[in-house]
Amino acid sequence: MTEPSTRAKIAVFVSGGGSNLQALIDASKSGMLHGEIVLVISNTSKAYGLVRAEKENINTFVYKVKNYDSPDLASDDLFSQLRKHDVEYIALAGYLKLLPQNIVKAFKGKIINIHPALLPKYGGKGMYGMNVHKAVFQSSSKVSGPTVHFVDEYYDTGGIIAQQCVDISSVNSPEEIAEKVLKEEHKILPYVIKKIIEGKVIRTDNRVVVLE
Ligand code: GRF
Repeated sequence: MTEPSTRAKIAVFVSGGGSNLQALIDASKSGMLHGEIVLVISNTSKAYGLVRAEKENINTFVYKVKNYDSPDLASDDLFSQLRKHDVEYIALAGYLKLLPQNIVKAFKGKIINIHPALLPKYGGKGMYGMNVHKAVFQSSSKVSGPTVHFVDEYYDTGGIIAQQCVDISSVNSPEEIAEKVLKEEHKILPYVIKKIIEGKVIRTDNRVVVLE
């Protein structure tokens, strides 16, 4: 498949440090990713991910539903922000909120999330950040690793696109698991977005295939 001449426009949603956002920015700058981050959105103005975006002159938007008169007005405004920047793909990279339905529907097959464990285990509401790694640690699993999946209307249930196993058999803390998994997140997230942009992620009714 030949690469499109214009670079795909990507919005990234963050709630925290944004190291995954940084991995995407770096992949875009190096040319590994035939796409550009045109908008970074956060549910909190305190997210360091916003600072990372500003350093790169990427547009930012803080989206708080409570600042609007109704959830519908909030999601309409979010949608218009995405349209204003011609966003084609969305990556949730450490974003702790559910996306509004209108956006999930409009971007079906073009929104992905990164989760720091091997779904379908250790997912769902409340399973984010260190909560995930603590649960994995307590389970005495010998492997963990990131999952990138399509986003649907629930937490962590969309079709799984890619996973990377990480050996955690000798770790002594959830923090050590987090560190090992995060390193792999920074590789798998740009990889999956690249594949989606190239049209190499194929969805059927019950499975997702990533082509070489
Ligand atoms: C990552 O582990 C991500 O998978 C999880 O939250 C963490 C965010 O890290 N959902 P960062 O903000 O990208 O540094």
